Amino acid sequence: MEFRRIGNIPPYVFAVVDSLKMEERRRGEDVIDLGFGNPDIPSPDIAVEKLCEAARNSKNHRYSSSRGIPKLRKAITDLYARNFGVDLDPEREAIVTIGAKEGLAHLMWVLAEPGDGVIVPSPSYPIHLFAPNLAGARVTQVELGPHVEDFFVALQQAYERSWPRARAIITSFPHNPTTYSVDKGFFERLVEFAKKNDVFLVHDFAYADIYFDGYRPPSLLEVPGAKDVGVELYTLTKSFSMPGWRVGFVLGNPEMIAALQKLKSYLDYGTFQPIQIASIVTMNEAPDYPKVVRDLYKVRRDVLCDGLERIAWSGVERPKGTMFVWAPIPEQYRHLGSVEFSVRLVKQAKVAVSPGVGFGPEGDGFVRFALVENEQRIGQGLRGIKRAFDANLALP
Ligand SMILES: Cc1ncc(COP(=O)(O)O)c(C=O)c1O
Repeated sequence: MEFRRIGNIPPYVFAVVDSLKMEERRRGEDVIDLGFGNPDIPSPDIAVEKLCEAARNSKNHRYSSSRGIPKLRKAITDLYARNFGVDLDPEREAIVTIGAKEGLAHLMWVLAEPGDGVIVPSPSYPIHLFAPNLAGARVTQVELGPHVEDFFVALQQAYERSWPRARAIITSFPHNPTTYSVDKGFFERLVEFAKKNDVFLVHDFAYADIYFDGYRPPSLLEVPGAKDVGVELYTLTKSFSMPGWRVGFVLGNPEMIAALQKLKSYLDYGTFQPIQIASIVTMNEAPDYPKVVRDLYKVRRDVLCDGLERIAWSGVERPKGTMFVWAPIPEQYRHLGSVEFSVRLVKQAKVAVSPGVGFGPEGDGFVRFALVENEQRIGQGLRGIKRAFDANLALP
């Protein structure tokens, strides 16, 4: 049987490492899992309490509103005013989505028609590439990584060589997996460029609150006029450590939001209302939780980066944002490629990481560590890596 729409999506590379990890665990091995970026930090207590309370009220068992209940849209626009000084109209400039991923995927359906050009960085978080692909768009990829001096120039060049000329540009900073970060000047140039060339901007701001060392990632919407050309996705997944709750937002350009709203009104009835209610209370009453989350990731980042340095895994940049470390594969193992290298790390070091090639061919010289285990376990993982390196990563 042939299913053409999904026919050109490759199998998930991460599944290789994941199934090996499961195999090792079945054999009784304790594998440190720094592969899948699935946050382990508990969601705020207040979210759980409100969810339970709201779930007991049968009024909340009915279909909810596909674009999100008004108080939730107000809570996110208040958060944007507080955190970024951005003024948004909760009626026209905010819509609730079932996580950022769903928002992005359906947004691409409305923004790109089959054959339209879309520019996406490479490597990239898989949905950034496959959302436009699934919409039938032609994707032009722009290389991104620690060696890239000025990503804006690279984007501009990609636009010049793209045909058909891109209708949309997808960005996401701090970036998963490369952790590449930008300043507000980048968005100022991008907005000016989008206006001049009539392109839509879609900025996935999943790591809005996960930043370190005095760096603060800017919101696209901080740039005056950004709303004329673009939208931004914000999610409770990382900021409030609420991955399973599936609460995200698309914010900014009212026409793009109205279009998404129209599509979604056919597709879903919104997130379960008790989850929406718990999200409102969380954003309003636990505004400092993102700092708790951020501080935990910072400690883990330092344990991992210090440890990698100690075991002579060199060239690893300490990220300014995200919950990842993007590490170039040590020279002597680079010829293995990122999948084989990751396979050997699971088998020899009992550490699971994501092979960089899973994010695109440009990622093949790297692996991604997700900071989703505590410091002690990261320490255990580092000892495992050292042992494996001492044995030259040789397979038994
Ligand atoms: C860049 C990026 N966007 C979106 C997501 C997922 O967000 P959500 O859980 O809101 O769908 C992730 C999760 O890893 C991510 O890295």
